[in-house]
Amino acid sequence: MAKDITIGFLGCGNVGSGVWRLLEGFGADIEHRAGLRFNVKKVLVRSLTKARDIQFPDGVLTVNPDDVLNDPEIQIVVEFLGGEEPAYSLMLRALNAGKTVVTANKVAFALHWHELQKAAKTHGAGLYYEAAVCGAIPIIHSLEESLQANRIDKIYGIVNGTTNYILTRMSKNNEDYETVLRDAQQLGLAEPDPAADVEGLDAAYKLSILASLAFHGRVPFEDVYIEGITHVSAEDIRCGQELGYTLKLLAIGKRDGMNVETRVHPTFIRSDHPLANVSGSFNAVYLHGHACKEMMFLGRGAGDMPTASAIVSDLERAATTCQHKYPTFVNELNPKVALHNNTDWQCPFYIRVSAQDEPGVLSRIAKCFADECVSIAAVQQKGEQHNGRVTLVVITHIASEKAMQRAISALDSQIATLESIIRVEQE
Ligand code: HSE
Repeated sequence: MAKDITIGFLGCGNVGSGVWRLLEGFGADIEHRAGLRFNVKKVLVRSLTKARDIQFPDGVLTVNPDDVLNDPEIQIVVEFLGGEEPAYSLMLRALNAGKTVVTANKVAFALHWHELQKAAKTHGAGLYYEAAVCGAIPIIHSLEESLQANRIDKIYGIVNGTTNYILTRMSKNNEDYETVLRDAQQLGLAEPDPAADVEGLDAAYKLSILASLAFHGRVPFEDVYIEGITHVSAEDIRCGQELGYTLKLLAIGKRDGMNVETRVHPTFIRSDHPLANVSGSFNAVYLHGHACKEMMFLGRGAGDMPTASAIVSDLERAATTCQHKYPTFVNELNPKVALHNNTDWQCPFYIRVSAQDEPGVLSRIAKCFADECVSIAAVQQKGEQHNGRVTLVVITHIASEKAMQRAISALDSQIATLESIIRVEQE
């Protein structure tokens, strides 16, 4: 005899429709295998009259959140609204009413994880969020359960498919950023307003969640350094390729004792690194644990069915768990013992400058670097002279972020102006 689980949806866009279709098409398998029958009783939508691909049975759609949150039969609430509000307040209400919440919402989750977890624990409700990071890739469950016997010291993610698609096309076809972004928007791969993706925010929300789990301490979103891909040029990608590097928007988390650094920025990685071959809209997470060593997860990080795959798996987990589990670190706004946010990380740098082409210029640039103890590993002059200026590419040895920034600000614009600065990961 199958167990009936009554659920409600908050929102029903692309991902919600994917979950509906997955439950419809695969529900019999789940019933047969797990003995569970999920019945979607209520779906909160903005408009009852909007044309939809799915034919919902009469009475399922509602514009009143109370129909989902106040219905005692609804045990699990699945949130698809996205963004901070009203998603956060509605999830909190569901948890306070003792209902388990399954969400794909990295924004509300990254910003209010502590409050949501507190409400869930207080009311014995479950809180599941596999779909919030990297869509179908089971990275949350792996960090929460399968990799618990590890001290993870490094985590690198390509966690945003839109930017990975753009950078892959720029790298493979030598196209410029604006052209590829426009194409990606026409193909529906980038949002009409692409800011959250291309400015790195989406990746930063996900990194805040991943780093908190990997490092067993709350890494607030505000602590993540964020730089997007809007200033990336095809010229830098080409120069990097000549040096054996591939450019990726990496979400980087590192832990050393109580020091943690978390940053999202365009990064040059060796072209033979497994992450360099993660192309198009694919996502990947590469990590290192003291026992498991190196490990990489690869898969689809967005889209209706890949995200539905994570949500429906969470539904099954929620429905078969007698006592819900929560991450064990102190998940509070101001914990007594907190990880220290290190903003002066160390790495090699790629610097491109436009410099006067005359004697002594190189030594003056080198002096600015030397004064800050930044050691130069290689210098290349690129192309021909234009208006008395040439392009110089400098690769440094490992240097401190702050020292590098001071060295750059000390450059005299009469002799050299900064065109770009890109961090390099030597992993
Ligand atoms: N917009 C995200 C991406 C997917 O491009 O990967 C949702 O997090």
